[in-house]
Amino acid sequence: MPVPIPRHIAIVMDGNGRWARRRLLPRAAGHRQGMEALRRCIRACLARGVEALTVFAFSSENWRRPADEVNSLMELLAKALTREVPELEAAGVRIYFVGDRQSLTDHVRQGLAQAEADTAHNSKLVLNVCFNYGGRWDIAQAAAQVAARLAERGEPVTEAAFSEALPGALALAHMSDPDLLIRTGGEQRLSNFLLWQCAYSELFFSERLWPDFDETALDQAIAAYAARERRFGRTGEQIKLVQTAAQTIAI
Ligand code: IPE
Ligand code: IPE
Ligand code: MG
Repeated sequence: MPVPIPRHIAIVMDGNGRWARRRLLPRAAGHRQGMEALRRCIRACLARGVEALTVFAFSSENWRRPADEVNSLMELLAKALTREVPELEAAGVRIYFVGDRQSLTDHVRQGLAQAEADTAHNSKLVLNVCFNYGGRWDIAQAAAQVAARLAERGEPVTEAAFSEALPGALALAHMSDPDLLIRTGGEQRLSNFLLWQCAYSELFFSERLWPDFDETALDQAIAAYAARERRFGRTGEQIKLVQTAAQTIAI
């Protein structure tokens, strides 16, 4: 039987700095190699029929790093916009940039908008690049939008109105929630990634540093996902009943 493929995979691409340090290279070299790993991973997702890939490229907290490393990451983003986007466009990838754009330069902001517009007609794979993203920022910006909308209509912020409108105001409102969240680099934490959206994602932690993450490692994560039972609060017996009913209808 074929392995069920997660429709939406999210990845915390961690370990670039350690990869570089082990080779006595500057951290920026690790980030450049990380870009190669991302290219490989996108190709692998396309080949496996994954519908969406969401990657954490720069967190709200990564501004705390030394200025030269932050600059190298900004440069890498700018370069990716010119070098990678045409190839992704040709491969059928639709790109979204997810995060707070206010602190980015005008030039980069324009590049992000252009990449989104240039790939808007594609539908093979959705690639969400989370850049200057933080889960708390996301929830706060969505809450502000909802509160403003309700105030405009003169409606009170009730629990029901709020929880109905909030998911649609989050930065990944165009997506279903991630089925599988992978973190490379050996750490087992979220580091302020998709706090709301990963409520029921299956978690997979890999010891591999992100620049070393390849197709085999991705397949291991997918195989681990396929072996899990997603219960969403129900019992295992209830899940089996639903599966049996679905199989009977399919026959
Ligand atoms: C992840 O790799 C990339 C970014 C956070 C931008 P790191 O740079 O965090 O690598 P380590 O964790 O220091 O090895
Ligand atoms: C998370 O990695 C952010 C990205 C991969 C972009 P970090 O390396 O910044 O996370 P912490 O600081 O170890 O939690
Ligand atoms: Mg790290």
